[in-house]
Amino acid sequence: MKKKIILIGMMGSGKTTIGKILAKKLNLNFIDTDQVVEKKYNLTIKKIFDEFGENFFRLKEEKIILKILQKKTPSVIALGGGAFLNKKIRNIILKDFISIWLNTKLEVIYKRCKNSNKRPLLNNKNKKDLKITIKDIFKTRRTIYSKAKFMVKTNDSPKLICTEIIKKINRFIELKK
Ligand code: S3P
Repeated sequence: MKKKIILIGMMGSGKTTIGKILAKKLNLNFIDTDQVVEKKYNLTIKKIFDEFGENFFRLKEEKIILKILQKKTPSVIALGGGAFLNKKIRNIILKDFISIWLNTKLEVIYKRCKNSNKRPLLNNKNKKDLKITIKDIFKTRRTIYSKAKFMVKTNDSPKLICTEIIKKINRFIELKK
């Protein structure tokens, strides 16, 4: 079975960090969908939101991710936090990929995102509003994230989290044989 692995989860859940380590351990390509969007438009995600709005971003995000998902090369893909909400994207992932939801405590997400201005949905907020926004976003997405094949809590170090993910993947592949 070809390993096509997708990491999903909230902004700041560690998809990129863990994805890179996981890809290295499994000797697979690593793709970060946000980075592909940024490269394609030569603009940061923040700039795309600021200049063209979220709807524009979502349209381009869909187009680019659908193209990435068509690739046959086994890889580890870190999916932008909102992309799994897109039904077309989600259906392909659930059908053809091993999806892993990185379920990170909201307090940790808050700490990681509070001093970053890279995430337009969380920008320009005071402490209280940022906490409320993170909570609200999670509330609307939780059930959708939980559709992923596996859920991993991210309380351990990235290396240990990768070991746990690899165990789950191998067990799953064994069962499929
Ligand atoms: C978003 C998450 C971001 C990026 C954009 C929107 C979201 O990616 O795609 O800012 O809706 O959760 P990360 O999850 O990699 O931060």
